[in-house]
Amino acid sequence: MNLDDWAQVYVSEDRRRRFREVLARRLDCLTLVFEHVGDPRNVSACLRVADAFGLGRVIHYADGRYHRNHQISMHSDLWVDVLNYQRFEDTVDRVRRDGFALVGTVVDDPAAIPFDQLEPPPRTALVLGSEHDGLTPEMRAACDHLVTIPTCGFADSLNLATAAAILVRHFAEACRQRGGPGVLLDPAEQERLYRLWIERDARLKLRKRGIQAEF
Ligand SMILES: C[S@@+](CC[C@H](N)C(=O)[O-])C[C@H]1O[C@@H](n2cnc3c(N)ncnc32)[C@H](O)[C@@H]1O
Repeated sequence: MNLDDWAQVYVSEDRRRRFREVLARRLDCLTLVFEHVGDPRNVSACLRVADAFGLGRVIHYADGRYHRNHQISMHSDLWVDVLNYQRFEDTVDRVRRDGFALVGTVVDDPAAIPFDQLEPPPRTALVLGSEHDGLTPEMRAACDHLVTIPTCGFADSLNLATAAAILVRHFAEACRQRGGPGVLLDPAEQERLYRLWIERDARLKLRKRGIQAEF
């Protein structure tokens, strides 16, 4: 049996329709970059946020690779690709090569403006920093813009995934409202991901049943 045969048996029509619906709303113009985030559970929680609001790819810049935690991501990491980078230059090169402006997210930087006052760049990479130190000085200097989430309580610094949820939701909606070319995935990329997701889903179901996949 080939992939299509397996998919007919193990990936229901409803599920396949859902893949198409999610892919039709996936954004090509927004991504996240994690800089030296220490706790992988925080990255997993952010992947859940990314998936929920339509992001398909994020960049993980750290000394080690991101390790999946399905319990926290709730399997969102099946639908959001994580590119791992270990060097600052490679990370920034990749983001710029893909045409994204770097929007650094900071707590305490006087150069930052409230996030909802920034006119979202056509392609936006929101850069999130580590739990203890936030963004490094070199990353702040590399960013095209710095934004902050204004607060009025005793706490000014939010948990990473909480900050990600506020920022991603805002920038995702701004992208959708602006519309135009490059906001959503092109049809060829949607088709590529559709087949990849069918394969992942079928493999997951087969593994749970203890069946060896033949594709
Ligand atoms: C726990 S915070 C880091 C706190 C660190 N002490 C600092 O001063 O940046 C982790 C990350 O979440 C994001 N974050 C948390 N609170 C934020 C806020 N109020 N505005 C913007 N980003 C925030 C930033 O990306 C930050 O680097």
